[in-house]
Amino acid sequence: MQILRTSEELAKSTRALSQSGTLALVPTMGALHAGHLALIGEGRKRADRVAASIFVNPMQFGANEDLAKYPRQEAEDARMLEEAGCDLLWLPSVTDIYPQGFATKVSVSGVSERWEGEVRPGHFDGVATVVAKLLLAAGPDVALFGEKDFQQLAVIRRMVSDLNVPVEIVGIPTVRDSDGLALSSRNAYLSPDERAKAVALPQALEAARNAIQSSESVSETLQDAQDSLQNAGFSRVDYFALVDAGTLEPLDRPQGEMRLIAAAVLGTTRLIDNLAV
Ligand code: PAJ
Repeated sequence: MQILRTSEELAKSTRALSQSGTLALVPTMGALHAGHLALIGEGRKRADRVAASIFVNPMQFGANEDLAKYPRQEAEDARMLEEAGCDLLWLPSVTDIYPQGFATKVSVSGVSERWEGEVRPGHFDGVATVVAKLLLAAGPDVALFGEKDFQQLAVIRRMVSDLNVPVEIVGIPTVRDSDGLALSSRNAYLSPDERAKAVALPQALEAARNAIQSSESVSETLQDAQDSLQNAGFSRVDYFALVDAGTLEPLDRPQGEMRLIAAAVLGTTRLIDNLAV
């Protein structure tokens, strides 16, 4: 696996690669787990070569968020990627992505405004800006993202379509631990006691999905779900909603392609998850 640190090195490598076949890109912030590796695996099926990027993007973290303590484990990540068959790892620096004088922001309205966008103002501007840069710098044929961050995936699809970025965006189902908790780099923040309680989140999503599929009232179902999280020890539920899977607009009764999405806080850790209905 080739390891590259600057945009220049990347440009040279991807130019050479694109002459010999197709390229898939998996953008990440590192602290890799089996969810990230599932994206690499799918990338290998969809393109001749797979590249991953690791960049903890300051622009998508709020002032009071976990940028400083976000887990960093570069050597371990590189080993995992190599084992998973990744061909190229790009580790840009902050000044490489945001050189002095950087003044452009990619802001996607509509689909980014509610839910995560409301609780984390500016977050999706940071995501859309960095993903646009990563895609333009690496020029992949395919880029893979997890459904774990369901709203993020919708924002990226919108941005790529609106800006005619010549890449196919592929969404990959969420990889979960054996008890159902979605794998996340932030799970590392949970104490053993919190880790045991965290399973209430996927359980609440499943219970809500079953209730909605049995034609129970949507508003009562969503309220029950929030109550169950509070009872399980979550200190705050930011949202627990039934939404249109394309627009992310809230639904008060079942209609079309739907998704349950949720965000809740356990101790000092904020967890998000979602489930198709
Ligand atoms: P990060 O949280 O590192 O996630 C990188 C990719 O892995 C994202 O597409 C995310 O949805 C996916 N992923 C995370 N957990 C997953 C799981 N359990 N199953 C399947 N896929 C999973 O998301 C980001 O980084 C950043 O916002 C980024 C897109 C890299 C822009 O900075």
